[in-house]
Amino acid sequence: MRLRRVLWGGLIAFGLVFVAWAALVVREFAAGALPAPVAKFSASAAQVERGEYLARIGNCAGCHTARGGEPYAGGRAVDTPFGAVYAGNLTPDRATGIGDWSSEDFYRALHEGRSRDGRMLYPAFPYPNFTQVTRDDSDAIYAYLRERVKPARRVNTAHSLSFPYDSALALATWRLLYFKPADATAATAPSQTAAWQRGAYLVQGLAHCGACHSTRNALGAPLAGHAYDGAMMPQNDWYAPSLTARDEASVADWPLDDIARWLQTGTSPQGAAFGPMAEIVFQSTQYLRDEDARAMAAYLKALPVTRGVAFKPSPQTVSSGRATAADRGRVLYEEHCANCHGKAGEGKASAWPALVGNRTVLMANTSNLFRVVLSGGFAPATAGNPQPHGMPPFYHLLGDDDLVALLNYVRGAWGNNAPAITTLDLIHYRDALRVARP
Ligand code: HEC
Ligand code: HEC
Ligand code: HEC
Repeated sequence: MRLRRVLWGGLIAFGLVFVAWAALVVREFAAGALPAPVAKFSASAAQVERGEYLARIGNCAGCHTARGGEPYAGGRAVDTPFGAVYAGNLTPDRATGIGDWSSEDFYRALHEGRSRDGRMLYPAFPYPNFTQVTRDDSDAIYAYLRERVKPARRVNTAHSLSFPYDSALALATWRLLYFKPADATAATAPSQTAAWQRGAYLVQGLAHCGACHSTRNALGAPLAGHAYDGAMMPQNDWYAPSLTARDEASVADWPLDDIARWLQTGTSPQGAAFGPMAEIVFQSTQYLRDEDARAMAAYLKALPVTRGVAFKPSPQTVSSGRATAADRGRVLYEEHCANCHGKAGEGKASAWPALVGNRTVLMANTSNLFRVVLSGGFAPATAGNPQPHGMPPFYHLLGDDDLVALLNYVRGAWGNNAPAITTLDLIHYRDALRVARP
């Protein structure tokens, strides 16, 4: 009797939840095309120029330009764990681009993640961040795209997502669970400085730093309480380190000027940007005006530090148990690396990063260390650092055992004190990356 009542209760509760979910999903589907624009759009030169600047901060061209393709004509794949989503044509071409879009349509895409016809967009387009962009800034970007970008006829590429992620039902459910358009009238943090507020607006919104740096759940949604706490990138070959961990990428201890300069040039006394971060600096943050770079720096510096301790050199060098491997590691280091990074890993200011106390070297997640040594690294060429030095790849010169001996030497010498890595770690990474061995 009692069991039956419980079962019925459960069934009714499930039914109610199902009906509520279905109602909400239907509502997600319901939005259609907006009414056609009433007045013809007109933009001032100042608005167009501001739009160009803002589009750079949002790195719109980075995703919306295919390799070798027309600027902003789309077709570049954004890889996700569920397949590839192709960025659309943002040129003012009327048939295939946004030539017939109103500024209202455009704002709705950024703010609500919906295409002109009402279709829900995939969050590979960082609208969960762009939802914070103001109407004014959205209109400026729209004005820039309409007035300055050359129309290019290119039909959007169909996405290639695996089942069930390719279904609108899955996307509607994802949006119900994880996306809410920003409330433009919500109060900001009144106790913070104007610079911090501006920095928060840019970092959280247009610059979408958390799109790579925030920890995600299995469905690719940011985990509550883990903003900026580090994440592997979708192909699992780069790690976007935590901006809130002292032993990863927190800048709480950097002078404000160094952070601002790093954003604009990709280099600082604390390290250089490489890999996907070098691309962001190259395409986007190098164009930041001084006051915006300093505002973002103020926000980043004030992010709460949640874990990790700052590097302190250890008195001991390599422990005796690792002596023979360390000897081999030292010989290899002196042969292959010391020319640039210095005999004692001291580096050379603004040319070759120091490896003593270097967080890429010491981090528990070794992906970026493996990657930079196997594939090399290029700092971005920027106005403030026009001819950066590069780092050559070593995949074809060093086998797994040699590389592990060398890296363990670097991780344990000169006061560095990171635990040893195993050959298995490296083999695993190298196989996943499919780079050849000597
Ligand atoms: C990380 C890559 C990325 C960045 C950066 C990015 N986009 Fe996109 N964008 C995409 C992808 C992928 C889509 C396709 C989403 C879909 O079709 O579901 C898209 C779609 C869009 C759409 C809808 C196009 C259509 O035909 O429905 C608009 C509008 C748009 N982006 C504008 C922008 C603007 C403006 C910026 C810069 C402020 C920007 N995007 C930056 C990846 C990006
Ligand atoms: C496309 C993904 C991506 C985006 C977007 C991105 N980052 Fe990164 N970031 C990375 C990766 C990968 C690394 C590790 C490589 C490196 O250290 O340069 C990194 C490194 C960093 C570091 C460590 C620097 C050091 O030398 O210790 C900081 C700080 C940082 N990012 C801040 C930012 C900020 C601020 C933004 C937004 C303007 C941002 N990132 C946007 C992927 C990204
Ligand atoms: C020709 C000079 C040169 C040689 C040789 C060289 N490097 Fe580098 N290395 C660089 C430069 C320049 C950078 C910065 C690259 C960038 O920012 O993309 C760098 C970056 C690095 C980084 C990332 C540092 C950071 O700040 O995040 C590591 C780790 C590293 N090198 C280790 C090594 C090791 C180990 C070797 C030997 C196997 C080596 N390098 C050989 C020039 C060199």
